[in-house]
Amino acid sequence: MFTDLHNHLLFGIDDGAPNPEASLAMLRRAVDCGISAVVATPHAPDLMNSVYAGLINRHFRILQNLIETEGLPVNLKLGAEVFFSERIFDWLDEPWATLGGTKKYLLFELPLFEQRLPVADFIFKLQIQGIKPILAHPERYLYLMDQTRLLEQWHEQGCIFQINAGSLTGSFGRTAQQFGLELLERHMAELVASDAHDDDRRSFAELTRARDLLAPVIDEEYRERLFVSNPRRVFDGEPFRPEFVLPPAGRKFALSRFFRKIGLA
Ligand SMILES: [Fe+2]
Repeated sequence: MFTDLHNHLLFGIDDGAPNPEASLAMLRRAVDCGISAVVATPHAPDLMNSVYAGLINRHFRILQNLIETEGLPVNLKLGAEVFFSERIFDWLDEPWATLGGTKKYLLFELPLFEQRLPVADFIFKLQIQGIKPILAHPERYLYLMDQTRLLEQWHEQGCIFQINAGSLTGSFGRTAQQFGLELLERHMAELVASDAHDDDRRSFAELTRARDLLAPVIDEEYRERLFVSNPRRVFDGEPFRPEFVLPPAGRKFALSRFFRKIGLA
């Protein structure tokens, strides 16, 4: 069974599900795909306020009740995709601020087009408080492709990298796909998540699609960690140590070559 740690399932909050019916349709798809545990992670903007925070908490309770009424076999927890901001330190006690409200893992995102933010400092400060930072979809920040040393530094500091399933299947274009594959090839990613926004082009089904596509090229043990055991540990609030494995000499970009060969890149 799968666990999904990043999606926009919670209705009426951001650019994800617009209403409770849409949330339920997304969840039914998740169940069909073998996903039994989900953390809902609506965007938490830089300028968070109590009205928005209250809305997240209220809609989460409504959705939990609907899941129960519908008898959907899925364990739902609350979290957020926090937009990088020092202000989050004022909100860490909120149930949505960290994944599952456990104050163990925090999912954060960066601006998509450029950033000059003190990310290393942010990673450090979170860990001082016992919270592991998870960077959402590093492969989508294309400006980081030229700054691999920076990525390595964040990773060495203990930041966990979460790749989007849709990047691996090519939904965000060839460049994000290749960047994602390179991070996998270097074993610099610990998690894959759906980042589902709807039940159409950006659905929970991307997760199982990515897992199947990677079957011929990623060893089963790493694939199991990316899609099953690591997401589960985060969901349960258990610790895990990221692996630091350097790519074998001569194998660099073999995955990208493979995907080109089979016409997927
Ligand atoms: Fe997201």
